[in-house]
Amino acid sequence: MKLSRRQILLGAMAGFVTPQQALAKNPKLTLRPAPIAVRWPEQDREVPGLVGFNGSIPGPELRLRQGAQLEVRLENGLQDGTLVHWHGVRAPNRMDGVSILTQEVVPPGAHFDYKFSPPDAGTFWYHSHYLSYEQVGRGLFGPLIVEERNPPLVDHDITAMLADFRTKSDGKFDTDFVVMEDFASEGRLGNLLRVFLSHNTVRQGDRVRLRLVNAAIDRVFRLDLEGINGAIVALDGIPLEYPAALQRLVLAPAQRVDIVGTIVTEVTFSTTAGISRAPIGRIALSGVNPAPDLSPVTALPMHGLAAPGQITQRLELLMRGGEGDQDHGGFGTWALNGVSGLPDKPFGRFERGETALITLLNPTMFAQGIHLHGHHFREVLGSKALGPLRDTLLIAPAETREIVCVFDNPGLWLFHCHMLSHSADGMMTWIEVS
Ligand code: C2O
Ligand code: CU
Repeated sequence: MKLSRRQILLGAMAGFVTPQQALAKNPKLTLRPAPIAVRWPEQDREVPGLVGFNGSIPGPELRLRQGAQLEVRLENGLQDGTLVHWHGVRAPNRMDGVSILTQEVVPPGAHFDYKFSPPDAGTFWYHSHYLSYEQVGRGLFGPLIVEERNPPLVDHDITAMLADFRTKSDGKFDTDFVVMEDFASEGRLGNLLRVFLSHNTVRQGDRVRLRLVNAAIDRVFRLDLEGINGAIVALDGIPLEYPAALQRLVLAPAQRVDIVGTIVTEVTFSTTAGISRAPIGRIALSGVNPAPDLSPVTALPMHGLAAPGQITQRLELLMRGGEGDQDHGGFGTWALNGVSGLPDKPFGRFERGETALITLLNPTMFAQGIHLHGHHFREVLGSKALGPLRDTLLIAPAETREIVCVFDNPGLWLFHCHMLSHSADGMMTWIEVS
């Protein structure tokens, strides 16, 4: 697939607010999901079936300074219920936006006020968490940026949201979301791959921060980024202690990568879809920076998350087929620890502040992207080494991984596969922190 200039523009125009605008107003805004008419660049007419927040895909970029309060009114303009979840944010439990567990679904025409201060600076995102497989798949997602109190100085702070959409052979958006072959495999992979950019021109020599978010429901993006000489400074919104080399990026659904670097040439994003590797987005050159910043990339200011303590519980999470268990909804395609759908009892109960070790077993034939709400965890990498803090971990077929987590955010939290077709069909559980 070759990308036309209009395709890139579509991404660039999609409803982003500039940092200055949003920060000045200390965000108090309304998110209104409603059906929207999008004209894909590949087509000459509008495609029905998509929905967006405030008339765009992605929804508006919410941006605030660390310590500030986010105040968002969700005003439901859909024919169906909905909710907003703040992915990766250690929000208070009642603000987590998960149907059944933390909040009633907001009915059509009704509203709900979300109000909290995100504790951590970083790249986060928001998305529907009701029928999320379908609602996110139709376009209900957007970026949430919490700026450090002293952010690194850059010429451009650019958000790039990745997503894919499926169209039918007649070119129309495929609104059939109940496809057993999707549920029972890698999920609903779209044929239209998109990079939605908040900004699409840079000068050679500019210092940029690039915030990548994989908002696809099921697709793992394997991304080659050319044109930036820089380093990875954060994963899933949380700063790395030391910047890491910028190589091919692998982003599971919901994962984020922050990059800081200097522009050497036009920036291109390429990925492999099907058999061919192709560019799916680019940031064009608009000139030369007369005073290029070539200084080495330094680490972002450290986060305030608690270090793991003594391990007091060891648990196992087994990903498997659901053997048709339909007791908790869905078709019983997937299960966690033998239950398909949300179990009556939590997977784990933790005292506030407790550190637990969880073994994640994936004997299935498919990759799984396990996400824990309200917390960040570290992977156990060797006898004592711990990986970076993450909120979503990609686990390859037949792989077993171990994570440690400090459960310090009280409440009921979902723990599920973020391949949303898998969680829609059973791959979810929950934990309780008291
Ligand atoms: Cu992105 Cu259950 O969340
Ligand atoms: Cu999965």
